[in-house]
Amino acid sequence: MIFYFSGTGNTRWVAQQIAEAIGEKLLYIPDLIRNEQYEFTLQEEERLGFCFPTHGWQPPRIVRDFISRMKVHKATFCWALTTCGDNMGEAMTILNRDLAKSEGLRSAEGEPLQAETQFSVIMPESYVCLPFMKTDPEDKEHWKIENAKHQMHHIISVIKDRKRGIVELEKGATPRLYSYVIGGYFNAKMITDKKFMVDAEKCISCGKCAKICPVDNIKGTPPEWLHNGRCTCCLACYHYCPTHAINYGSITRKRDQYYFNRRGDQK
Ligand SMILES: Cc1cc2nc3c(=O)[nH]c(=O)nc-3n(C[C@H](O)[C@H](O)[C@H](O)COP(=O)(O)O)c2cc1C
Ligand code: SF4
Ligand code: SF4
Repeated sequence: MIFYFSGTGNTRWVAQQIAEAIGEKLLYIPDLIRNEQYEFTLQEEERLGFCFPTHGWQPPRIVRDFISRMKVHKATFCWALTTCGDNMGEAMTILNRDLAKSEGLRSAEGEPLQAETQFSVIMPESYVCLPFMKTDPEDKEHWKIENAKHQMHHIISVIKDRKRGIVELEKGATPRLYSYVIGGYFNAKMITDKKFMVDAEKCISCGKCAKICPVDNIKGTPPEWLHNGRCTCCLACYHYCPTHAINYGSITRKRDQYYFNRRGDQK
């Protein structure tokens, strides 16, 4: 069973490949939250996997909240994968702490659950809301995806064979500084929907932004942000808008948009 979150499709693409290859169920965390579904029973020998993008060198808030409420029976092998634009710092250490803290998650032996096998996969950048943070140029986007395709063969075989203790992570330099100090500030202060705005003249009322928001935080056309306290700053509303009518303050006005296979050139 694979639990995943994705804003702009990178993690969905990765998680789908694994699910197909190992023949296990793929569950989208926002749908489970909508249905208030937190309890799961694994089949004999079924693996438990988590796939999520790195947000500020940590797992996204929506994933952490979900894990704190989950209950899973019969977990024997747990793995995790994060996608990131550059590096993921200590995101897996934080994930493992969250897993251990969650009372509904215990190994088959009754011990706190840990993701024993961990991967990061570098994918095109989706964060564009700070100075110097931009989408990747087309050639970089392509080579990142090509590299990821090669990496996926190996990742799938490790997960298929239930290999424990495989840890292949792009943590970057000074990962503790990035995850706990800079990422701590980023996740506390900058994961907010307060800066989203719409240029009503550019909006063609397609309804895509409201439909794509994983936490139902957008209503109507032109869109209105409900400020429901659940925005995880995935930027799906910004990136998927077909007319670039949505911006995050003024900083994104001249930035490009990205989502997986936007150009229709990926399988
Ligand atoms: C709010 C936010 C924060 C991000 N923080 C990081 C980060 O700390 N390190 C990094 O390498 N990439 C970071 N990124 C980029 C994403 O992790 C990366 O593009 C990821 O593959 C997006 O996955 P998705 O398409 O499944 O949402 C961030 C993206 C967002 C939206
Ligand atoms: S996605 Fe863009 S064009 Fe479509 S309703 Fe939202 S703001 Fe308007
Ligand atoms: S409001 Fe936009 S950034 Fe926030 S969760 Fe919804 S789609 Fe993602």
